[in-house]
Amino acid sequence: MSAARPQAMKLADYRQPDFLIPALFLDFELHDTQTRVTAVSKVRRQGTHSHPLILDGEKLQLVSVEINGETVSAQATEKGLCLENVPDEFELRIVTHIDPLNNTSLEGLYKSGSAFCTQCEAEGFRKITYFMDRPDVMAKYQVKITADRQTYPYLLSNGNKIGQGELPDGKHWVLWEDPFFKPCYLFALVAGDFDLLEDSFTTASGRQVALELFVDKGNLGRAGHAMASLKKAMLWDEQRYGLEYDLDIYMIVAVDFFNMGAMENKGLNVFNSKFVLADPASATDEDYFNIESVIAHEYFHNWTGNRVTCRDWFQLSLKEGLTVFRDQQFSADMADPAIVRIKQVQVMREHQFAEDAGPMVHPIRPAEVMEMNNFYSVTVYDKGAEVIRMLHTLLGETGFRQGMDLYIARHDGQAVTCDDFVQAMQDANGIDLTLFRRWYSQSGTPRVEVETLYDDKRQQFALTLRQHTPATADQQDKLPLHMPVAIELIDETGSQQHILSLTESSQRFELACKGEPTLAVLAGFSAPVKVDFAQDSQELLKTALYGQDDFLRWDAAQQLLSESIHASVTDANSSLPEAVLALFSGTLDVAAEKPALAAEMLALPSFETLAQQKPHIHVDSLLAARHSVKMQLAEAFAGQWKSLIKVAPDQSYAYQREQVQLRRLKAVCLTYLAELPDSEAILQQGYQHSDNMSDTLAILRACQSANHRLFEPLMQDFEQRWGQDSLVMDKWFALHGSRQHPNSLASLQLLTGHAMYSINNPNKVRALIGSFAFYNTAGFHAADGSGYRFVTDYLMKLDAVNPQVASRLITPMLGFSHLDSTRQDLIVQQLARLLNHEPLSRDLYEKVSKALH
Ligand code: ARG
Ligand code: ZN
Repeated sequence: MSAARPQAMKLADYRQPDFLIPALFLDFELHDTQTRVTAVSKVRRQGTHSHPLILDGEKLQLVSVEINGETVSAQATEKGLCLENVPDEFELRIVTHIDPLNNTSLEGLYKSGSAFCTQCEAEGFRKITYFMDRPDVMAKYQVKITADRQTYPYLLSNGNKIGQGELPDGKHWVLWEDPFFKPCYLFALVAGDFDLLEDSFTTASGRQVALELFVDKGNLGRAGHAMASLKKAMLWDEQRYGLEYDLDIYMIVAVDFFNMGAMENKGLNVFNSKFVLADPASATDEDYFNIESVIAHEYFHNWTGNRVTCRDWFQLSLKEGLTVFRDQQFSADMADPAIVRIKQVQVMREHQFAEDAGPMVHPIRPAEVMEMNNFYSVTVYDKGAEVIRMLHTLLGETGFRQGMDLYIARHDGQAVTCDDFVQAMQDANGIDLTLFRRWYSQSGTPRVEVETLYDDKRQQFALTLRQHTPATADQQDKLPLHMPVAIELIDETGSQQHILSLTESSQRFELACKGEPTLAVLAGFSAPVKVDFAQDSQELLKTALYGQDDFLRWDAAQQLLSESIHASVTDANSSLPEAVLALFSGTLDVAAEKPALAAEMLALPSFETLAQQKPHIHVDSLLAARHSVKMQLAEAFAGQWKSLIKVAPDQSYAYQREQVQLRRLKAVCLTYLAELPDSEAILQQGYQHSDNMSDTLAILRACQSANHRLFEPLMQDFEQRWGQDSLVMDKWFALHGSRQHPNSLASLQLLTGHAMYSINNPNKVRALIGSFAFYNTAGFHAADGSGYRFVTDYLMKLDAVNPQVASRLITPMLGFSHLDSTRQDLIVQQLARLLNHEPLSRDLYEKVSKALH
């Protein structure tokens, strides 16, 4: 790629399309290596101009082009097709051949096992046929699929089935019609043989919707939870947002080869099987939770994404930030709201703050993009959802709902921008959101400094908030932002909550308070910021043990733990501070009553979270410090760990709130217990008696993180039992990949040759190599650079197979400014090797070139 460097596209350069394509007929004759695609479009010039019609197309073999029935000669380039002097309105017929079997990028039409399936978002449709592959070109689709009847009994596409027939040569065909206009990224096709779980849902207005869930043969017993989740999501969207489903059929297909989690194609979602399949023996509570939330996410896209879609890809957060926020609200209603919130905040602090600190930093609405797939990021998704949440906090539930109603009413059937969304919120509520809009264009993690003063005489509590956003790699100058800062004041008489609206770089607030209170800031993580508030450990302890808000209690506990870990970095012999001991004994005392919150409060902050708290870290000493704190806590509360693991549910496994809470508490206790010398029998028995994957995995994880000698025999046993089960083996690969052990590289090498491993399957790559790069801190950051070299070598191979997956895997190599200079040099060496590697995908080029800049 060094010859022709990929160019960035800019939001500022957006122009409306020169042509519109209101109708498209697609005819697929499926074949492994030579599928024939006939695309018949109605094309209409938009505006007065004489520009050519430019169609996107990649990796296509062009067979013929006809305009109004007459063959035209057209020369295709690597990027597409340019048709000069076309009429103002015409029928365009293009025939192409494609090779799904050898399409390892899993973008466009490809094979997952023996089935055909598609993934078009963001720009994959251009790998199927020549088309204007942009979301503001919306068409009504008819799709005809022809294939062998025996191998492909199910031929699926968007919308309703309007015809089918048999052919003499053992083939059959099906014709689909989608009555809604849609951009091509929402097109989908699936052909294969599946087990089918059928159900139905009656909408609020009384319409019957057929629900169909397609899974690999033999997996019907694992499909029930996904179906139940879908029905919950459909009901929830009616009740919370008044939004009903709009077609007569909703189909979900689970496939094993998938780049992301799932895809919201109109009426035909395609899912990574890991977000569909579950039963107690093979899936954890976390899997059950994730399935419910991803099923809901894709369903909610039907309105926020499909009925109202994006004008261009810079607006991705319009649908993703909003839909993540909606699925978060749904999850909070289905499960434990405080715990759900804690998990989301952990994602922000571990991953989004890290993205802000690295070379790929971007605003939730990026201004420049080289490869769109690189922007399906924690910033666009999760920070995007945080921005929507701030609107919800500022406007309140009713105001937010009014804004949503107006947004949908105004823009149904359109392709719009983030600005259109904020405008609807503004108009429906009659407030000025000018300042708030800066969240869409400004990148980086803001810092909010807190200073307090209590006036005894006037009984007034004064609070000064100062905000500033440090410069980021993409943007020097930053402006103050509009953010809600939720606080809690705890005094003798109880506690009071307030939401302060911060708009200036410095602002002072006064609150009446009888007696000097303890202040806790950022309740519910009301804004995606870092807080600088020097509080002594007694204050933090008070919040952790006596606060009202569960999130704030957890947050205070995490701060106490983080501080004691950072303190033992500087003083290796330091013993645990009194406040931490008091935190643990206070929390353990009430653990049986509030098991879910206790579990989170007793869990140590992850290495990645700790690393984000300091501008500079030393990997080895931070790891050692975290371990030493863990050891001291394990020993100090040895008796409690042993007795608490007995609080487990006594009924057989169900994914049910009380049970999940107890299992989670038990899992945290086990991580401490496993550090104790006399834990072997308990762990061994726990493993043997477990009747569900949550408990089994809790034991394995505890053994892994304590480097317990049981780890290897248990892992061998696990492999014996589950060796043929692809999804379960991903858990096994991940445990190996993230195991911090002197031989981790050798074992990684070996495992890439395992019968169940394949570089072509993204789930396997993420499980093994991904968990090494992201979570095997000691191995990845090995002082001799061997971890960095291993990942780089692997990326070179993977990039040729699947650049999208390679580009996600490189993330841990990007943010290195907080590491010591030796490690920085080692990473830079490897990145330089990558930059010179040929060919290098646009995906990796964008990231590597920015990192080396
Ligand atoms: N729209 C999908 C979702 O969030 C994600 C698909 C992204 N795919 C990609 N190749 N970048 O549910
Ligand atoms: Zn989405």
